[in-house]
Amino acid sequence: MSVKPIFFALDGKSLSEFEFELKILKDHIYGVKVGLELFVSEGPSVVEKLKKQGWQVFLDLKLHDIPNTIKEATRSAANLGADFLTIHIASTSDALIEASNTKGNTLQILGVSSALTSRAMTNSVSEEVNKEFKEAKECGVDGVICPASEISKTKEIFDLIVTPGIRLKNDDKNDQKNVATPNFAINEGAKYIVMGRSIRNNLDYIINDLEL
Ligand code: C5P
Repeated sequence: MSVKPIFFALDGKSLSEFEFELKILKDHIYGVKVGLELFVSEGPSVVEKLKKQGWQVFLDLKLHDIPNTIKEATRSAANLGADFLTIHIASTSDALIEASNTKGNTLQILGVSSALTSRAMTNSVSEEVNKEFKEAKECGVDGVICPASEISKTKEIFDLIVTPGIRLKNDDKNDQKNVATPNFAINEGAKYIVMGRSIRNNLDYIINDLEL
């Protein structure tokens, strides 16, 4: 059985809400994404619980703060056992360098561009994002969160590209502006894709039919 390069976004207030899906998806997909909503409601032990269940854990806290706070939060995330952690590139290069120097051997830092958060993609946004990604690379960041439309440019900078905003052909777009299918994102060069609502609505298809 091949493991699909998907992070399941656990967008909810308690881990028990996802018990059913997690059981079914185990060994079919690569990992889970813990965002602010779940982390704040359940507390840091949610990461430890998921690690005990054998998941790769992507801690999507989108940290944006002064260098010392970023450094210590990164240390704490690494100690918790998180495998990936998001940090806003706008936190400054000093903060990103501190994070890169503190993360240890197992945690990977993913840069987030503030220009991307729910904004429509235009040429000027695309240029801004590309510039930020280059700066992040120079600071030792391991990879980035990148919409499907920007993957081909971003591949020249990073191998580790994680793409959200994924929808199957017939899915509702909901609040996402830049959506793409799983196959499009992976064929463009994303290493992993993030899927939340689209997984919950299409569990059987994801496990049995989706070929990536
Ligand atoms: O697949 P779905 O839209 O339900 O998943 C949304 C997840 O992807 C959320 O956890 C959200 O934080 C994350 N995300 C996003 N768009 C971005 C960055 C992250 O939807 N530009």
